Amino acid sequence: MKIAVAKEQMEGERRVALTPEGVKKLAALGYKIHVQKGAGELSGFLDEAYKEAGAEIHNDQESLFENAALSVRVQPLSSQDIAYLPPHSTLIAMIKPHLFPAELKELASQKVTTFGLEFIPRITRAQSMDVLSSQSNLAGYRAVIEGAYALNQAFPMMMTPAGTIAPTRVLVLGVGVAGLQAIATAKRLGAIVSAFDVRAATKEQVESLGATFISVEAEESGDAAGGYAKEMSDAYKLAQRAALANILKTQDLVITTAQIPMKKAPILIDDELLSLMKHGSMIIDLASETGGNCSKTQHGKTITQNGVKIHGPLNILSDISYNASQLFSRNIVHFITNLMKDGKINRDDDIVKASCLTHEGAIVHEHFREKRATDAS
Ligand code: NAI
Repeated sequence: MKIAVAKEQMEGERRVALTPEGVKKLAALGYKIHVQKGAGELSGFLDEAYKEAGAEIHNDQESLFENAALSVRVQPLSSQDIAYLPPHSTLIAMIKPHLFPAELKELASQKVTTFGLEFIPRITRAQSMDVLSSQSNLAGYRAVIEGAYALNQAFPMMMTPAGTIAPTRVLVLGVGVAGLQAIATAKRLGAIVSAFDVRAATKEQVESLGATFISVEAEESGDAAGGYAKEMSDAYKLAQRAALANILKTQDLVITTAQIPMKKAPILIDDELLSLMKHGSMIIDLASETGGNCSKTQHGKTITQNGVKIHGPLNILSDISYNASQLFSRNIVHFITNLMKDGKINRDDDIVKASCLTHEGAIVHEHFREKRATDAS
């Protein structure tokens, strides 16, 4: 079975879906891996390493995709990319259908069977395939490193003959995978760290990392199915705002990661809260792709408002693309190993069922299903 690994086409994307290590593992299982020339170069994986691992390198996309049964990618495909996919082949990638609904329809029209890696259920058996976790973990780490570099102050308290330097204060909003790693990284660098999340379970996790949990005077908890958060009531939002108003005044670096699956990210720092922040402080908004947690965030830009820098990283994982590709590739290998049974897609498997978005000309995922794409023409 031929697997095609193309170079990522989305602006700013440096990761690759399969590394030479992944090629070796899949080749040992009998797959024939074909890689576009230079696909891994921006994340540090050269064509030579792919060849040594057993891959065939292609200069052009026509020959890369010819008779490919499976294609693996990091980012959602554009219309031009989709046109290369052979009908009845299978695509495994992050699809982000809420951001790219037209492309999802095109995948269905092209009769591609599409698996969206972000729809893998959060169950124990699926942890090794969970790209959201593997990538969020690195994003949380990298956000702190970028903040430490951008701020004009040191993280740890320093006692010197010339006097004491106060430690940096870091606030993390949203304590999922990225938030927890951001807390751990900021603590390791010596910052005083506080954190907040709407899910009740996070209090203990925050405290176990030695950070302070910001409590909100409200009865409601934001726990929804699968460990995700739900959208909160207006009363809760008011109480949350009051708690944040208190703490934001003292913070040097705020890292925001709050997301609600398939919805716009909640605004946690509005214009008024922003105006309370210290001159010279910084917000790194990891939710910028889905609108951001700060009212002034612009995805892919850094702006300054009343002396506060607000950074909405275009693709923070590209700045740590070597490790991000390594983990993504391992997730892909585990996904493919689980996907295939006796040379066929195992359609009875729960992980396979939950992540399938298009099949046989139709959008099949319950959230995005409309009518058969082929009927539309
Ligand atoms: P996410 O990226 O969807 O959201 C990040 C965080 O933002 C979440 O903790 C969420 O509660 C929080 N949030 C949402 N609205 C908020 C608001 N208004 N104010 C403050 N915070 C808000 O979350 P992620 O990182 O994908 O993790 C979600 C959950 O899934 C976690 O409980 C995690 O432990 C769990 N998980 C389970 C896995 C498994 O069992 N296989 C694997 C990975 C994660």
